[in-house]
Amino acid sequence: MGLALTELTVSHFRSHKLARLALDGRPVALHGPNGAGKTNILEAVSLFSPGRGMRRASAAEMTRRPEALGWKLSGVLQAQGQSYEIETWSEGGAARQVRIDGKAASQIDLGKLARVVWLIPSMDRLWIEGAEGRRRFLDRIALSFDPTHAEASLTYEKSMRERNRLLKEQVRDAHWYAALEGQMAETGYRIHAARLAALDCLRAAQERAETAFPSADLELVQTEGAMPETADDLREALAESRFRDLAAGRTLVGPHRSDVYGVFAAKGVPARDCSTGEQKALLVSLILSNARALAETVGAPPIVLLDEVAAHLDAGRRAALYDEICALGAQAWMTGTGPELFAELGDRAQTLVVTESDKGSVVTA
Ligand SMILES: Nc1ncnc2c1ncn2[C@@H]1O[C@H](COP(=O)(O)OP(=O)(O)O)[C@@H](O)[C@H]1O
Ligand SMILES: [Mg+2]
Repeated sequence: MGLALTELTVSHFRSHKLARLALDGRPVALHGPNGAGKTNILEAVSLFSPGRGMRRASAAEMTRRPEALGWKLSGVLQAQGQSYEIETWSEGGAARQVRIDGKAASQIDLGKLARVVWLIPSMDRLWIEGAEGRRRFLDRIALSFDPTHAEASLTYEKSMRERNRLLKEQVRDAHWYAALEGQMAETGYRIHAARLAALDCLRAAQERAETAFPSADLELVQTEGAMPETADDLREALAESRFRDLAAGRTLVGPHRSDVYGVFAAKGVPARDCSTGEQKALLVSLILSNARALAETVGAPPIVLLDEVAAHLDAGRRAALYDEICALGAQAWMTGTGPELFAELGDRAQTLVVTESDKGSVVTA
């Protein structure tokens, strides 16, 4: 067995009061009507990786209402040939905490054990909406390769917020700017390097893969100008930009102004101009490439969360997706409204049924 959860307990989390799931390492197909609580289970699994999880929700939003007591997720994770007890929970709306084998741990420690990647329905508009979503998508991929990427992003964002505040208040103290720009340059450069490295890994994985999904050529671009090439260059660019930034009231250079330009490789058509189905196929292809690249670099494929993906693929593509997931040996968690969406998997997957009751969501094998 590669990387997999073999037990999952979801407690007071969204629509689930208490769900105990026993998993055997095969992909997991969850089906049930709309609103039953399927995506909530995937979101729970996503919280075993650093950050806010699949829906980017706050700890308070995820607590089961109306009780609002706080929530807890615990699991047994098979990773690197060992078994780990992992827990994450939030009390009173406070930031979530993590424990591994009973000891307090950081989200990054957890990220080094549990690599989790996902595709969710809101990503369907990824190629046509703003750059932020594409950056976030790439950052999740970068983070799956290098869990410390999360740390660099947080530090960068924090320094930038502070710098933007100075800009808005028209502060002109050069020392103050220089200190913040130093932090931004150091972390901003790491962010940029991690993004480029992630794109290289994806590219190599796409080239080697035999897949039914179209490959995407991805390029990191700047919405304006060019991204400085070293941390020193970035520091200088920030200092030089101060005057212009004061007028704009915000920081105009840095990795927060990067974008991902994608092209449907076989056709040479920009991803944003592709059909909805093609755009979805490109995303599936990228997630599979991410999983393949992780299998090569860290020795096991990640846990893959595919929310409502089956419904958007025709039967042929669906069968191909299932074959590729099974060939990878990934524990993929997939949702759909009915069992027919998972028929092609047969007994290669474990099926769970999710329904709603007056006591909350119920998950049965
Ligand atoms: N914090 C919360 N407390 C209780 N119920 C919640 C909370 N957040 C969401 N829900 C409920 O969860 C259900 C949606 O669950 P979801 O997993 O998205 O459904 P689906 O099975 O369609 O994927 C809705 O009924 C919603 O009201
Ligand atoms: Mg759902």
